Amino acid sequence: MKQDMIVILDLGSHENTVVARAIRALGVYSEIYPHDITVEELKTLPNVKGIVINGGPNNVIDGVEIDVNHAIYNAGIPVIAAGHAKALCEVKLPEFTSDEEAAKAALKEFVFETCKAEANWNMANFVNDQVELVRRQVGDKKVLLALSGGVDSSVVAALLLKAIGSNLVCVHVNHGLMRKGESENVVEVFRNQLSANLIYVDATERFLTKLEGVADPEQKRKIIGGGFIRVFEEEARKLDGIDFLGQGTIYPDIIESGTKTAKMVKSHHNVGGLPDDLQFALVEPLKQLFKDEVRACGLELGLPYEMVYRQPFPGPGLGVRCLGAITRDRLEAVRESDAILREEFAKAGLDKKVWQYFTAVPDFKSVGVKNNARSFDWTVIIRAVNTVDAMTATIEPLDWDILQRITARILSEVENVNRVCYDLSPKPSATIEWE
Ligand code: XMP
Repeated sequence: MKQDMIVILDLGSHENTVVARAIRALGVYSEIYPHDITVEELKTLPNVKGIVINGGPNNVIDGVEIDVNHAIYNAGIPVIAAGHAKALCEVKLPEFTSDEEAAKAALKEFVFETCKAEANWNMANFVNDQVELVRRQVGDKKVLLALSGGVDSSVVAALLLKAIGSNLVCVHVNHGLMRKGESENVVEVFRNQLSANLIYVDATERFLTKLEGVADPEQKRKIIGGGFIRVFEEEARKLDGIDFLGQGTIYPDIIESGTKTAKMVKSHHNVGGLPDDLQFALVEPLKQLFKDEVRACGLELGLPYEMVYRQPFPGPGLGVRCLGAITRDRLEAVRESDAILREEFAKAGLDKKVWQYFTAVPDFKSVGVKNNARSFDWTVIIRAVNTVDAMTATIEPLDWDILQRITARILSEVENVNRVCYDLSPKPSATIEWE
């Protein structure tokens, strides 16, 4: 690793990631470490040019106020205090939440003037470093990767492909709940264009059979998630000589899985649940990147823009948008209406503006008229939301024109649908998905 690094020591601040991202935005690499890191541990990290001690409201654990190892003040590395940190150093960084501009300016001065760090953190260097590290870790062994076609798994696949070529074995499981053209696109990009070693498994029948008659959303999610792991496991067992499992773990996954001062938000297992006798060592080359950096890395590796900037898509796929017990005709209605929505959003440039947009089809019918006759058919619900972190969301105020255009196309092109609605509910009270 050639790049300089500024280390952030976490004394219970919510601003850790804000500070880390602000330093990376200056072109200098930054990582967050526990408050009680020792000088010896610090010295094992490459090219540490400075330390930010970042204090906050969570600096009391089990009734005791936590502090950094005082020896780090004498480690010969410049130190700055941020947030509420009562650190033993002269220089203080203003809080980002109270004065962002002042905080950024002070950070810049610290990083470049005090620490003399070089702005050498960029995607080209990151990719080169990771390729080198993966080669060192894996040698001439094989890596297995579940390639869903999502941003993270696609970028990992491209990176591993560059590092180890045909020693990467990708498995794409089509559970029959993918969007229109999605599995085909994975095969086109990775097998045909990038010549990846890709095993494509069409498990549609198996999943839809298992899901027959199951209406409970949690039950549906369990069947889809568990089924996915089983199919992946079966494929893994067919292969010989695999020692590693590639994973699209990214930095927020690691931070959210719990630091010493943050409550555990969720534990992350991208392909968790594999049986004990099928354990691999992990290769996680994106584990230091924030989401926007993952996208930049994907572009650096030559992946198509649409793949890298695609909107979030839940693991259970269209299964949670075909509400209640999934039927094949409604699943097709979801898939086809979603394809129309995406096409019209792209034409109107809304695909670059709206965070997430999709359709859902509830499991009830309503009365209508078609070709002068009574119809009794499904309803398509359109949803388009904006959010920063998916914890809360607001509705995109769509123009009537586009809503009417999409409605007209859905009613004329999608079979068994006679009604279209627009969902106006923010999160809360609704969630983004319907199930
Ligand atoms: P909700 O419906 O909880 O969704 O407001 C928040 C965001 O998470 C996505 N989502 C999922 N993503 N696996 C995922 O990878 C899932 O099971 C899942 N469920 C919801 C949802 O699309 C939205 O972006």
